[in-house]
Amino acid sequence: GESYRGDSTQVNGKKKKIRQIKELRESIAQMLLPCRRNMPEYAPYITEDGSLTAMTAQLIDGKAIAAKLRQQIAQRVAERHHQGLRTPGLAVMLVGSDPASQVYVSHKRKDCEEVGFVSKAYDMPAQTSQTDLEQLIDKLNEDPTIDGILLQLPLPAHLDASQLLERIRPDKDVDGFHPFNIGRLAQRIPLLRPCTPKGIMTLLESTGIDLHGQHAVIVGASNIVGRPMAMELLLAGSTVTVTHRFTRDLPGHVAQADIVIVAAGKPGLVKGEWIKPGAIVIDVGINRQNDGKLIGDVVFETALPRAGWITPVPGGVGPMTRACLLENTLYAAEHLHS
Ligand code: GUN
Repeated sequence: GESYRGDSTQVNGKKKKIRQIKELRESIAQMLLPCRRNMPEYAPYITEDGSLTAMTAQLIDGKAIAAKLRQQIAQRVAERHHQGLRTPGLAVMLVGSDPASQVYVSHKRKDCEEVGFVSKAYDMPAQTSQTDLEQLIDKLNEDPTIDGILLQLPLPAHLDASQLLERIRPDKDVDGFHPFNIGRLAQRIPLLRPCTPKGIMTLLESTGIDLHGQHAVIVGASNIVGRPMAMELLLAGSTVTVTHRFTRDLPGHVAQADIVIVAAGKPGLVKGEWIKPGAIVIDVGINRQNDGKLIGDVVFETALPRAGWITPVPGGVGPMTRACLLENTLYAAEHLHS
């Protein structure tokens, strides 16, 4: 403009600065996921002094996606009725009075009601014996009105969870925890798939990103989330790293991730500063603070300006896990018990 007239040093300085900013933009674009590179509204904003300022992640609305799924399931249940087909049935077993488990189980029963499933509740005292539970599982395995059997975990310490999970008929194992179903997933012929990883795959699909070749880093190697999550992502063509309590340099691994899935059960374990700009962040953590507020395993506030997409807690993964339980129960009714 006017102020540069006749002052070549100032003009050259300005040109140099513009070139530097252009180079910086290009180098940052290389770090971003391909589909974000040409999205000006989400591109990082670079100020004239070359510093990078906030971009804001898109929220992945698990609550809305789950509500839509439930609506589709309810519609199919109504159709089945018109066709003279049976109402799908889910048995939910709860042993003891863990407050978090009580909340989860009551949600699952409410969901069944909403979509028109039959829900059978089995609430048992903490002292219930292994034999009593085996007998109940045997009875439900034989019950033709029951398509899905769910044993809420964790169980009281005197009980052997894996022995009970293996006793559930694989075609009624709507949690997908039976070695038969885990083995099927491992061998790329999934049947009933664990609910949280399956729900997360639906959330990832909602971003429209092609998962092939993406580097997914999973934090936590549990039977319920981390391990089956690794198998799902591998099946989808991602490159998978599973980190756990013995992993060295967790921040270094997370910084490499195009997709981060955090299921460690440790509030605020993953810091926003670790996240690669533009990455997809899936927070599986549900931690209740002393003030009653729910928080995730990721520090949401600092992850938000770096991530490309992020799931909130609550309202992200939790509702999807529940919706997938309904999907699995409907699948069992339609394809395994017809
Ligand atoms: N405990 C924590 N998550 C789950 C789940 O998905 N299913 C069951 N049965 N128990 C859990």
